[in-house]
Amino acid sequence: MSETWTFVCATGELLPGEFKTAFDEVTGAGIVVFNLDGDLYALEDRCSHEEFELSAGSFDSAASSIECVLHGARFDIRDGRALCAPAYEPVAKFPVKVEHGGVWSRDDRD
Ligand code: FES
Repeated sequence: MSETWTFVCATGELLPGEFKTAFDEVTGAGIVVFNLDGDLYALEDRCSHEEFELSAGSFDSAASSIECVLHGARFDIRDGRALCAPAYEPVAKFPVKVEHGGVWSRDDRD
């Protein structure tokens, strides 16, 4: 399991209703971090339907969800669970922290 945190962006660059992306420094996995009314959540930036980048879709902060641009699956950004077809599997949720003025996350899967 990776213990190396990946810098995503400065805290001032991730305002409520926005998201930022990065690639995990160890595994290379895409990471997308959302600011939901001041709370930060990180997911793998990969739709569980056909592995398209979730960050290409639209973030609906009122519904706490992101919609994949390719076929319209939606995911809860707080836990990664699939909310509608054609996705049925969740996307991976990653830890996120704020430290030294930055937002950090990491791929913590084995
Ligand atoms: S790749 Fe995301 S819904 Fe199909």
